[in-house]
Amino acid sequence: MAKTKTAFFCQNCGTQYAKWVGQCPACKEWNTLVEEVIHKEEKPAWNTSEKASKRSSKPLPINEISTEKEQRINTYDQEFNRVLGGGLVPGSLVLLGGEPGVGKSTLLLQIALRLPYRTLYVSGEESQKQIKMRANRIFPDSSTCLILTETKTQQIFQQIEATQPDIVVIDSIQTLHSDYIESAAGSISQIRECTAELIKFAKETNTPVILIGHITKDGTLAGPKILEHMVDTVLQFEGDRNYVYRILRALKNRFGSTAELGIYEMQGGGLRQVNNPSEILISKNDEGLSGTAIASTIEGMRPLMIEIQALVSSAVYGTPQRSTTGYNAKRLNMLLAVLEKRAGFKLGAKDVFLNITGGISVDDPAIDLAVIAAILSSNEDIAIDKGICFAAEIGLAGEIRPVQRVDQRILEAEKLGFTTIYVSKNNKIGLKNTVITIQRVSRIEDVIKRLFE
Ligand code: TYD
Ligand code: MG
Repeated sequence: MAKTKTAFFCQNCGTQYAKWVGQCPACKEWNTLVEEVIHKEEKPAWNTSEKASKRSSKPLPINEISTEKEQRINTYDQEFNRVLGGGLVPGSLVLLGGEPGVGKSTLLLQIALRLPYRTLYVSGEESQKQIKMRANRIFPDSSTCLILTETKTQQIFQQIEATQPDIVVIDSIQTLHSDYIESAAGSISQIRECTAELIKFAKETNTPVILIGHITKDGTLAGPKILEHMVDTVLQFEGDRNYVYRILRALKNRFGSTAELGIYEMQGGGLRQVNNPSEILISKNDEGLSGTAIASTIEGMRPLMIEIQALVSSAVYGTPQRSTTGYNAKRLNMLLAVLEKRAGFKLGAKDVFLNITGGISVDDPAIDLAVIAAILSSNEDIAIDKGICFAAEIGLAGEIRPVQRVDQRILEAEKLGFTTIYVSKNNKIGLKNTVITIQRVSRIEDVIKRLFE
């Protein structure tokens, strides 16, 4: 009997070692080495040596390389297209990560069902019946979407040969298994081998492949970091399972920006694209409640109105609590210090809770002024008029600083019916004929005067 061959793989970076060591010499992480059985035959699963040799590539001067043919495949999902940078690139490998139950399978199945191209949806997690039941809820019927339940890459490639799909979806990479490696599905060496086979397939046939990847408890994609290096695009699907909104963002994109954001709403019949996110992120509350302020922020290329809620109350224990949802806690502490020093507010004896509604998180400094306004509004227990919104950054000296793309923010506020927007005095505004009143302020004191006195 052939001797089983094993090797040690770092679960963090994927480096292979012959012997176990406590600390991975490559990435310096401790206790990440795991023994796995390897047994690799010479022949890879996607054996296209003849095809490859026919069109073996030659070096070309960079100015002679044509980019004209760089076409995009429309996924018929505007949010998905936007995050990808305009659609799927032929031959690219896209990895979609997210926590269990966030809706990864739903999103990709829904896209596959709507596509007019032949799509092969390979599931190693659910049976064909289960998928059909889910599909029934999402989309009436599709004859172009093929469902395959299989986990062996060799079998999958056979079916691909037989059906010639235009797009392949794999749910999920952790369930795949290649015959050339003996270790269990989901192990580092399997993930690496299966991904490598899929990349080869994608590049050689120019077929885009979308992989679903699981996320571990600490929020990173399960499997080695190497997986993220291997694929062209890494997308993350996030959102609290208790909220209905889901956010799709690109963590890495070889073909576009990573600043774009896609927003969906989970409904009984699948995920609905949210084309005008500002409307849903602001609660439609007619009574003026203290402690809320609206900020005009920008995510990617899109302006977005968000609602900030603050609660300021007397600290019950010695150390006041500061807690944030969707906002950087350090930034909150800085803003509180500025308020204390520059505006004379004694917030040291108060608990401050801050929440960005809708379950999204924002790190645009242009929401600083709205954060301060919400805190002051709660502290004074005076509601801010519903028609007011903010777009400015706060400096350490308590000065109100200009923000980028202020025109776009003002237009979005105007579009949504706001009557007044507070911006920095030093912000250059190119807009003319705006209906919205633009309040130009330079210090926190000015804002306090205008809002609460
Ligand atoms: P799923 O796509 O299975 O998540 P993942 O693949 O990321 O693990 O989504 C699971 C959740 O989505 C499940 O809790 C039910 C919910 N859901 C809806 O609310 N509406 C729907 O139409 C579908 C199909 C799922
Ligand atoms: Mg799933």
